[in-house]
Amino acid sequence: SDEELDRRISAAKAQLGDDLVILGHHYQRDDVIRHADFRGDSLKLARIGAEQRDAKYIIFCGVHFMAETADTLAADEQIIILPDLKAGCSMADMADIEDVEEAWEVITEKFGDTVIPVTYVNSTAAIKAFVGKHGGTTCTSSNAHQVLKWAFEQKKRILFLPDQHLGRNTAFEMGIPLEEMVIWSPGSGEFEQQKGDLEDVRMILWKGHCSVHQKFTVEQIDRLRKLDPEINILVHPECCFEVVQASDYNGSTDYIIKKVAAAAPGTKWAIGTEVNLVQRLAQEYPDQQIQLLSTTMCPCLTMNRIDRPHLLWTLDSIMDGNPVNQIEVDADTIYWSKVALDRMLAV
Ligand code: 13P
Ligand code: SF4
Repeated sequence: SDEELDRRISAAKAQLGDDLVILGHHYQRDDVIRHADFRGDSLKLARIGAEQRDAKYIIFCGVHFMAETADTLAADEQIIILPDLKAGCSMADMADIEDVEEAWEVITEKFGDTVIPVTYVNSTAAIKAFVGKHGGTTCTSSNAHQVLKWAFEQKKRILFLPDQHLGRNTAFEMGIPLEEMVIWSPGSGEFEQQKGDLEDVRMILWKGHCSVHQKFTVEQIDRLRKLDPEINILVHPECCFEVVQASDYNGSTDYIIKKVAAAAPGTKWAIGTEVNLVQRLAQEYPDQQIQLLSTTMCPCLTMNRIDRPHLLWTLDSIMDGNPVNQIEVDADTIYWSKVALDRMLAV
């Protein structure tokens, strides 16, 4: 039963004591995040993980790239565990290292030494290592503006991976017109949506997206505004350009949480991000009116793979002395992805 699962998870945590830390991403289900010692967005959790030097085991309730980042920043002897190895991220999977290496050859042949690669942290450790090796860095949705500003101080052009929407939305807000952006399509090996002269291009956007945030539409915004003109539309910058332009506010997971926390009682919100977070905000702020932007549920299916049976299974395996689902990034990849992450942290 659910009670039995909760009881056994709590008992295992008590037995493992300071040897164990459980991290939970904001998109996790309520019944899982309740057992997390710390909750946060991907960057905050990676940083917290790195500070937990006394913990032998870190169970990361999130998705694969987040656990890889935690392993990159953790001490060598610490063990990072992902309760379900199938908890990947469809966006991170859209930038395959071989495709990126191939693209880089074409891009540098065309643009010479004028391009710096920047990857959203929602990418594999191999991609982070690639950008580290080529003078680039990582960014999160919280610091994308600062990181892109830094990157443009280094080079005229940015290759932005893997989320075209975060790249386009951020660059546009910084004053780069759409005419100076192109999409790199890994399948076709060609630049798409070329509106201006290729010589003027500043942003090369990898053709990746988040399957959850791509579901929000301008029609949903128009419909809700018609029903209630006072509603505030708040969306994540992984949503497409048209949705972000039609919204009142856009920002990272951290921004969304802070925006709601700072609002007056009675404020009405329609939020375009993962449903678990929106439902939790609605529970935590009952004096505000909070709803999901879409009428259909938008769960991140991979985040939702982490459930209590998987969490308990990993805890049991630690107690049996044979921890399952360890996330181990190889030493060379760790070295270069750390170079990329450290450049971001310095910015
Ligand atoms: P954060 O970096 O805000 O945690 O977002 C991660 C994510 O997967 C958003 O879709
Ligand atoms: Fe990946 Fe989107 Fe899920 Fe975030 S919400 S983990 S970007 S699939």
